[in-house]
Amino acid sequence: MDKKVVTGICSLLVLSACKPAEEHPGKAIWEETCKVCHSVGLAGSPKFGDVKAWSKRIARGKESLYQHALEGWGDMPAKGGNPALSDEQVKLAVDYMVANSSE
Ligand code: HEC
Repeated sequence: MDKKVVTGICSLLVLSACKPAEEHPGKAIWEETCKVCHSVGLAGSPKFGDVKAWSKRIARGKESLYQHALEGWGDMPAKGGNPALSDEQVKLAVDYMVANSSE
């Protein structure tokens, strides 16, 4: 078989094999630390998936959301109360929540 064709078939196979396994890197972190409040809107937290509740916050800019998640804000504890998380992990969890709470 032509080498080009073989390479083409292989890349197709790789792509389709990768697709279903793709998961947001912030999902596991969110489920571990943030879900307890943000899945139900505990303590007045903006609920996961609530586009309306998030839109005003998102409008302020991602940096503001990151900062509040990292340092705490109102009843939002710093790093969701889990200091073991790295800044990068907290930001991934914010990204995951925002991606699922905006249009
Ligand atoms: C103990 C409950 C609780 C946990 C756990 C928690 N949050 Fe929150 N979060 C809140 C509350 C309450 C607010 C609303 C604060 C306010 O607006 O005064 C909030 C607000 C936020 C906001 C919006 C900040 C803004 O600038 O408007 C982000 C982003 C956020 N949380 C991210 C996270 C992430 C990421 C995690 C997990 C690492 C997490 N939260 C875990 C209670 C929690």
